[in-house]
Amino acid sequence: MRAKRLIASVLSFTLCAGVTPAIFASAAGSETAAVTMGVNSSTITDAKTNAGSTALIPDAPLTAATADTPTVVTIQLGDVNGDAKIDANDASAILSAYASISGSAKSSNLTAAQTIAADVNMDGKTDAVDASNVLSYYAYLSTKGTLSIEDFLKASSSETTTTTTAPPVTTTAKVTFTTTTVKPPVTTTTATAPAVTTAQSVTSTAAAPVDTTTTAAAITTTTAAAHTTTTTSETTTTSTTTTTTTTLTTTSTTTTTTYADPYKVSEIKLSKTEIELNVGTGGISYVTMLPATADKREIWSCSDESIAVVDNEGWIVGMSEGVCTVTVTSFNNPAVKADIKVTVKDPNKVSSIRLTKTDMRLPIGGGDISYVTMLPANAYNKAEIWVSSDPRVATVSDEGWVYAVSEGSCVVTVYSKSNPAVSASINVTVTDPSKVAEIKLSKYEMNLLIGTHDISYVTMLPRTATNIDEVWTSSNPAIASVDNWGNVYALSEGTCTVSVISKANPAVKADIKVTVRSKPFIAPPATTTSTTTSTTTTTTTTTATAPVPTVTTRLIQNINGATFVDGILIVNKTYELPADYPTGALNPNALAQFNKLTEDAAKLGLSIKCSSGYRSYKDQERIYNNYVAIDGIVKADTYSARPGHSEHQSGLAIDVNSIDYTFLNTPECDWLAKNAHKYGFIIRYPLGKEAYTGYSYEPWHIRYLGIDTATAVYNSGLSLEEYLGITSAYK
Ligand code: DAL
Ligand code: ZN
Repeated sequence: MRAKRLIASVLSFTLCAGVTPAIFASAAGSETAAVTMGVNSSTITDAKTNAGSTALIPDAPLTAATADTPTVVTIQLGDVNGDAKIDANDASAILSAYASISGSAKSSNLTAAQTIAADVNMDGKTDAVDASNVLSYYAYLSTKGTLSIEDFLKASSSETTTTTTAPPVTTTAKVTFTTTTVKPPVTTTTATAPAVTTAQSVTSTAAAPVDTTTTAAAITTTTAAAHTTTTTSETTTTSTTTTTTTTLTTTSTTTTTTYADPYKVSEIKLSKTEIELNVGTGGISYVTMLPATADKREIWSCSDESIAVVDNEGWIVGMSEGVCTVTVTSFNNPAVKADIKVTVKDPNKVSSIRLTKTDMRLPIGGGDISYVTMLPANAYNKAEIWVSSDPRVATVSDEGWVYAVSEGSCVVTVYSKSNPAVSASINVTVTDPSKVAEIKLSKYEMNLLIGTHDISYVTMLPRTATNIDEVWTSSNPAIASVDNWGNVYALSEGTCTVSVISKANPAVKADIKVTVRSKPFIAPPATTTSTTTSTTTTTTTTTATAPVPTVTTRLIQNINGATFVDGILIVNKTYELPADYPTGALNPNALAQFNKLTEDAAKLGLSIKCSSGYRSYKDQERIYNNYVAIDGIVKADTYSARPGHSEHQSGLAIDVNSIDYTFLNTPECDWLAKNAHKYGFIIRYPLGKEAYTGYSYEPWHIRYLGIDTATAVYNSGLSLEEYLGITSAYK
């Protein structure tokens, strides 16, 4: 670059002296800057006339050449007006020419020679840069500088090379001169060297920061109205190097235009910074990119696409329960972004689990299942996970079947597969089937008068227990004693506890609270019955709470050996059926109503099944004898009817579900007690009515009477014997 400039500094051209006065410009003391050229007047034409340039160079000592004489014109670079000085007048002439070129004339007012002299940086143009260079050199001379303009510019160029990172203010200074070109020509000078740097900083414009533009456009246009404009003015007074001190007043206008990139995003605003969605639904947070003129392209992303996904327009869709962050980023300025906290919920997931059983008592080798209801009903995934807390005690299948392995306790838990936070548990107790694990009693309280006795019947569980021997004790035998079969005898006033334990497993125990009084606390039923067939009978019935004597006339009939009281077939300890009584099956009306009962119960999720219906005399004989063999006659008589005395022989009685006290407290047991009468049945042997019915409590045994009678008996709160005023006792 440097070598090129040195070569270019030697200018040569030809002038047509006959047309245009040749320029002779000799700069005393500037020999090195002088250029000498040989000119052939016959071949050189200069389009500019001297007259055309006099306004610019009024004092130029021009020498006219003769038309036929080759003219040697010596000019000095920068001395445009040919006055042998390089000063502000030359700069002004250059600026004037530049204005003329830039204006409507589109042409310079300089002669060819002047054009050469004006292009001090030799870039083939006459422009503000040349003027600036001239002014810089003029300033340099005023500080006693001795370099020629060419060497000065070379030196400045070197400086420029080292100042390519010049700060914006330097660039601004350059514009200062450019701006003056659109104003009336002025004589401009600067007093200090910085202007030198200014002039050369043209080449450093490209290094200016992107956000700040020092605009040459300001020279010719007045754009950037929306931008920040800073205008400064300065007045500089300086002295020339001539012997006569000249005071120049220079007005310099500096225009700096600074503006932010209007497309650059500086901020993102969101209509929502938090969004809550259900799985499968969508939502959006509206975006405002600032400033308003910004490039509004968006980039959307999500921290966890298993929870939510977002499309290119910011539409967010919930995928699964959880929390994640959706981010919108400016495409234009990725440093600017905004976050949305997205919470996804699942309304269709399982929220609770119901089980049909929460306790299980199983023998080793046994199994059971508790049916599961996952809620809500519309939960889309009702899959279950079953876990046993101790598989050494009980295992559980994937379907919830619990299998007993060994004695002990554990907890079996079912979890919702889709929402494992929801679970339900079953307490499982595994027993040795050969060992008694539990004792159930027919009564746990006794209220006795001195001199009377009572019995509470025992059920040893499981029924597979191989040794069901009982051991009875009384906490106070002086008040109530108990024999080896459980008969409790009231001896004196007071309370005590009668207990029974398993002989084989003494840890298993059941207690009866016994209260003995000397006077009756409940008036016993006083019944007088005439057994004369088809005659009226006067009876007195007494209820436990309000013993009001009632005189009722009952019709008692004996038909085919069976007794009917007020038309109701009675089979109890007092009234029997002949061995050949022609029944043969369940009564059709009873069966039809039982079927309705079970159907309605099933609609409620209850399972009621017939376990024992019609029995023949022979059936009952076998059953009773079996119990007598196990428990003896006295005890067997409390729960099993002798042959001929069982209601089952009438075809009007049904035992449901388990025919033992495990039926107690089941939903089916509770529902049956409250609803059987609506289908024509009564609980035939109610709790607390043993003295009237002759049998211990049997919640599973129902008797068909027809809806009207069953409802009347149910509403009376009486046993059938009380209701009809009849007895139940073997003769
Ligand atoms: N268990 C009842 C009383 C029957 O044997 O008929
Ligand atoms: Zn029965």
